[in-house]
Amino acid sequence: MTKTPVAKVKEILPGTMKGFEIGPNKLLVANIDGQFFAMRSVCNHVGGPLEKGKLDGEVVTCPWHGSRWDVKTGKLVQFAKQLPPEPVYKVTVDGDQIFVETEG
Ligand code: FES
Repeated sequence: MTKTPVAKVKEILPGTMKGFEIGPNKLLVANIDGQFFAMRSVCNHVGGPLEKGKLDGEVVTCPWHGSRWDVKTGKLVQFAKQLPPEPVYKVTVDGDQIFVETEG
């Protein structure tokens, strides 16, 4: 596991998300009511950038074809076909710094 600092707490306000690249991993960090969650941001339909989608509560909508994902669990919430879950990553906060844990 690698723990990588990604942003300061005040840089991701409640109800917003930001995209990051950590090595080969593209992921988003979302602030849901003051708690941070990280999920892979490459939509596994055909690769849409989920960090550029819309965050509504804990659900992110892909900007390309509208699949909807739960950022807490990585599970598909709604789409015309079944898609496998997106990986989620552990997020920790130390002081004002947000860290994401990835493999490797
Ligand atoms: S790429 Fe995300 S729904 Fe198609």
